[in-house]
Amino acid sequence: MTDLVVRRLLVDMQAPIARHWCAGDALRTAFFNALSMSFPVGEQFFIDSVRNGLKELPAGQQEKFRAEVQGFVGQEATHRRLHALYNAHLDKLGLDNAWESRARQRLKLLEGVDVRHWLAITAANEHFTAIFADFMLHNPQLLGTEDPRLVTLWLWHSAEESEHKSTAFDLYQALGGSHEWRIKWMRRVTTIFLMDTLRQTVRNLRCDGTLWKWSTFRSAASFLFGKQGVVRQTYKPWRDYFRRDFHPNEQDSSASRRWLADNSERYVPVGSAT
Ligand SMILES: [Fe+2]
Ligand SMILES: [Fe+2]
Repeated sequence: MTDLVVRRLLVDMQAPIARHWCAGDALRTAFFNALSMSFPVGEQFFIDSVRNGLKELPAGQQEKFRAEVQGFVGQEATHRRLHALYNAHLDKLGLDNAWESRARQRLKLLEGVDVRHWLAITAANEHFTAIFADFMLHNPQLLGTEDPRLVTLWLWHSAEESEHKSTAFDLYQALGGSHEWRIKWMRRVTTIFLMDTLRQTVRNLRCDGTLWKWSTFRSAASFLFGKQGVVRQTYKPWRDYFRRDFHPNEQDSSASRRWLADNSERYVPVGSAT
């Protein structure tokens, strides 16, 4: 079981967000803003999945998971709340969040469906999030230095995603979820997540008037396909998920632990799962 601490982040989310807060880079700003737009609805779904999954476990097994689920819910609920404040600033900048309504429509299709499907979808998303989080913790320079508050927000979120990466996966396994469903959902989630990220990033760039600039394409090429780019750095850990004996804990969490230890003045622990 994982000991999940809920933390209150000491950042001022009332101050406005600059148009190109991320190192003055339009592409990376649009990309991170797109991810933020997906969080309030996505993370609520993850919370509902693990809560409902816990209820489906036999009474004897529920105790084993209860504290971890509580920690998971506390962490994701805190992420949701801060990203909702973040997204309100993006509205004021004139950006249009189309991802959220599309995700809401899609989630309606899951109403009444076996909770193991919910958990397989959540576990796949959490794997995606955890490997990207680890990438960010190893490459914090990508966030620039212009807005230290947002740097803290993204790295704190990354550290906690790395911490709770196995909760949905373990519940799925405990409920007897099959390897086949897990793989099937990872394939679907990968396609949907990448398409949604691309569509919303392009939409943000269009709203910003920077879609057709050379600098945008240059930045995209190096951010995605450069030697230290996202695709090269995350492909292997993404592929590991397809192994029958895969478990999220086999992936290194030391960058998360290090960030939390080195930045303890930036948050206040408000609760622990144990
Ligand atoms: Fe989160
Ligand atoms: Fe998460």
